[in-house]
Amino acid sequence: MPLPKAELHLHIEGTLEPELAFTLAHRNGITLPHPTVQDLRAAYSFTDLQSFLNLYYELMDVLRTEADFTDLANAYLTRAAAQGVRHAEIFFDPQAHTSRGIPLDTVVNGLAAALDTSLRDHGISTALILCFLRDRPASEALHTLHQARPHLHRISAVGLDSAEVGHPPQNFTAVFAAARDLGLRCVAHAGEEGPPSYIWQALNLLHAERIDHGIRALEDPDLLAHLARTQTPLTVCPLSNVRLRAVPTLAQHPLPALLDAGLLVTVNSDDPSYFGGYVHDNYEALRTHLGLDEATLRQLARNSFTASFLPPERKKALI
Ligand code: HPA
Ligand code: ZN
Repeated sequence: MPLPKAELHLHIEGTLEPELAFTLAHRNGITLPHPTVQDLRAAYSFTDLQSFLNLYYELMDVLRTEADFTDLANAYLTRAAAQGVRHAEIFFDPQAHTSRGIPLDTVVNGLAAALDTSLRDHGISTALILCFLRDRPASEALHTLHQARPHLHRISAVGLDSAEVGHPPQNFTAVFAAARDLGLRCVAHAGEEGPPSYIWQALNLLHAERIDHGIRALEDPDLLAHLARTQTPLTVCPLSNVRLRAVPTLAQHPLPALLDAGLLVTVNSDDPSYFGGYVHDNYEALRTHLGLDEATLRQLARNSFTASFLPPERKKALI
């Protein structure tokens, strides 16, 4: 049985499996540019983050109705339960939908229909994290935050994702301050492709409580010491890093070095449909390619609950 764990870095749009994409395309009368599931899977060969994002944004055009978002989330939760997930903090990208005419209400209500019954149906508690697209203007992010106000009771935190290099966290300082004023927690992707200075900005300017990816922290000893002292969690995604060539091979993945430096490391799947595995598959890859032992894998699973936004009682019950 897979270890019980929390998943803290998971883009719901990145769980869209080719089979479901074709089902939704058919339901919505859309013709995909790839004629078969096999052709689509063959396109899953990436050279960097941007090459992945191009396909990620293209394929989510099949998501049109509340039912589409509900089906997407239910498909993920079914797979996650089989991977040992007991709690999932799920990213979604509102601007990727509103920019193509899908109302935010459709997205949130559709996802919520699956998340609201997840504990009962799948044994998984959930939280939603609204991500801002960092390669679009901060003014648009602020507008998105405003649009989300009727849904804030369903949203735990804000995050920052999409193309990293050239789009530093400092551009979103005011947006994150506004989110904190609304009572939202803060996380941010930083140090996936971008430099350690982006991680410092996420911590000092956005007040991010977790760093998503963060693997380039290894290049800055002062930053490593800071992350270890504050026990700021990193949500590391090994299969993603290899598929997007942030790391050459799994055997060379820096996760063991981050653990050795005393950081609170967690293991996550990022966009599992695109990167060849769900969260348990990431744990197994660490065992197979890096030789992580059972005790270390158990520690990583415990870390995932520690690093979550769960209330202390549920954390205690799960650890
Ligand atoms: N990085 C940045 N943005 C993203 C990712 C990622 O790995 N996945 C989906 N959006
Ligand atoms: Zn991510």
